[in-house]
Amino acid sequence: MLRIMPSSPFAPSSCNTNIFLIGYRGTGKTTVARLLAEKLKWDWADSDQLVESRAGLSIREIFAREGEGGFREREALILDELCQRQKHVIATGGGIVLREDNRHKLRSAGRVVWLTADAGTIWQRMQEDSTTVNRRPALTVGGLAEVEQVLNAREALYRDCADGKVSTVGRSLEDIVQDILLLL
Ligand code: S3P
Repeated sequence: MLRIMPSSPFAPSSCNTNIFLIGYRGTGKTTVARLLAEKLKWDWADSDQLVESRAGLSIREIFAREGEGGFREREALILDELCQRQKHVIATGGGIVLREDNRHKLRSAGRVVWLTADAGTIWQRMQEDSTTVNRRPALTVGGLAEVEQVLNAREALYRDCADGKVSTVGRSLEDIVQDILLLL
């Protein structure tokens, strides 16, 4: 766990901020968000789920009809809404950091934790995850090569907006949540 000093002390019971979980596909953002919110007695939300429910379409269908650009527009609008919330743990889509504006909004509306895993682990998890078919259309060449390529390209963006990062490889869900609480 890399620890970066937060800008102000984090006191879950009294603060009105949010916690945003960022990171590549398959780093466990949604699962961790649920458990972290339970521990903090906060609510949780998932930006991908909201994009899908607003559109009445799966992410795969949005990509097919509107291209990645259409999906990114929808994602940015949902982020605007999520930034108005308080005491929420929010799992974001892996590409939310692509827009500078989004990175700025994340930093302004809460604490940002970057969940990490190596490309091989991510690719294996994606293959085992039943949501991959409808939620994770190919971004470039597909497969492990895509994960390596895109992860490499995005690392600086995740780092740019995170208060700290937590590895999810070989760790239990409970340990990951504990690391996040320590980090903040
Ligand atoms: C994407 C990640 C997905 C989803 C969409 C695009 C990305 O979210 O937003 O398929 O660009 O990395 P998860 O990170 O929840 O899989």
